[in-house]
Amino acid sequence: MNRRAFLKAGTSAAIGALAVSRPAFAADTEISLPLREPGAVISPHIYGHFVEHLGGVIYDGVWVGRNSSIPNVDGIRKEFVDDMKRIGAPNLRWPGGCFADGYHWRDGIGDASKRPRTYNFWQRRMPPGIDATETNQFGVHEFMHLCHLVGAEPYIAANVGSGTPAEFHDWVSYCNAPPGTLSLADQRSANGDREPFGVRYWGVGNESWGCGGTMRPQEYAALYRKFVTQFPAYTEPFLVATGPRGHSADGDIGWTTGFFEGMRGFEPPHGFSLHFYTDLRPTPLKAEDFKAPEWYEVLLRGVRLEKVIEDHWKEMGKFDTAHRTKLVVDEWGVWYAPGSEITPAYILSETITLRDAVHTGMTFDIFNRHADKIAMANVAQSVNCIHSLFLAQGEKFVRTPVYYIFDMYRAHRGARQVPVNNPVPELNVPVLAGQARLPGLSASASMRDRRLAVTLTNPSLDAALSVRIQLAGGVRAKEARGVVLTHPDMRATNTFADPDEVKPAVHPVKVVSDALVLSVPKQAVILVECEIV
Ligand code: AHR
Repeated sequence: MNRRAFLKAGTSAAIGALAVSRPAFAADTEISLPLREPGAVISPHIYGHFVEHLGGVIYDGVWVGRNSSIPNVDGIRKEFVDDMKRIGAPNLRWPGGCFADGYHWRDGIGDASKRPRTYNFWQRRMPPGIDATETNQFGVHEFMHLCHLVGAEPYIAANVGSGTPAEFHDWVSYCNAPPGTLSLADQRSANGDREPFGVRYWGVGNESWGCGGTMRPQEYAALYRKFVTQFPAYTEPFLVATGPRGHSADGDIGWTTGFFEGMRGFEPPHGFSLHFYTDLRPTPLKAEDFKAPEWYEVLLRGVRLEKVIEDHWKEMGKFDTAHRTKLVVDEWGVWYAPGSEITPAYILSETITLRDAVHTGMTFDIFNRHADKIAMANVAQSVNCIHSLFLAQGEKFVRTPVYYIFDMYRAHRGARQVPVNNPVPELNVPVLAGQARLPGLSASASMRDRRLAVTLTNPSLDAALSVRIQLAGGVRAKEARGVVLTHPDMRATNTFADPDEVKPAVHPVKVVSDALVLSVPKQAVILVECEIV
């Protein structure tokens, strides 16, 4: 039933049964795009990735080993490479996460058979009796090879919590020094890579307020300065400082204030990391079995990100009025309490449903709308962990519904953001604690040359939304095409046995002169693309 029909038929009893109401005037809606007023370029790096030495992420998800019967490229799972390439993964963050601040890069180079076995931070979270000893079979060269195969830029999170500035600088030199200069460049060459890796993105620690050293922001600022002052700048770097735990109840503004106070008078970082998990771990909410209140609860907690971005940006602006430092949301995703792991050893792996795909669409729209503030974002994590695009176990591999959202939003990457006048009223929805208000329609738009891309997410479980996209500025559209990701069951997922249950389909869009007209089904994410004349 579309929204108009729903409202016509809607006796109060029917509305009551659905427990969601929307004012009648919102039944059909018009959003407008001022195409002559383009905004910031949407950094392609907003659609970035993250893999950590944790559970089944690196070992099995990414690295199957050179002698494996699982199809691989030099030990790296081929399906992972192919699909990451297909969606044009722009970057890959590694080796953690919390693992990063216990990682010593020299353990992961040289003859693989001679590499040491070392302690993995995540051992403490493993089920009793399961060993997480790090074998270091996947190290610096393997990671660089993966990035090369995918066409992704490497983003290395360096060890500040248990490392030294010297170890960090040697890692940078090992990666970036030209051949024939430093002994470290010779060593790199001897290990198989004569040419420098040219790593530009360096994270100076990870979650330094937590697993990265349990520091206070001023302490970390002092350490940050020490770690970067002697940075070997063979390649113009983009240095990312540890930022706040954005999903804390108070948004963790204190970290941002403290860090930038500690940086007064010094060169600010290029990037300031913001971690934002839609964190359901303290709730009884389940990844795979849920009803309407739990659907809306996840989306409601997810859209809190927008305010968190705005609040931290404002705080950063008090110290850095020119906003030289951009936000890097280098961990984000929906994180459920344990219970839906692929297998107990693959800690933090979760079932990914249509709900998580809808959350992804709304998150990407927030990133796009704040393209002026965000230099990069990295989903946590690409495979077998939290908000995954892929689940893998031995021979088995499946794309989750989230994968398809990454594919659809490629249209925005590197394009210029277009503001969206979106008057759709909020929905009044049931959530865990009663009722709450949620955006009635999530939207973002961008232009590249003469190609317009508009993404729309209808979070409603009850009614489609009939939308007219008005192109302001005296332009006309031609050749519109639409793609939709939805499913009649809000809990729909892709499994190893049934990998194609949730996948995109072509969606009709009508071009009416200077407008595009379409119906956005309930619980759906849509991409509309057209040429502007
Ligand atoms: O992504 C899982 C973990 O979440 C990361 O290791 C850590 O940085 C964060 O707390």
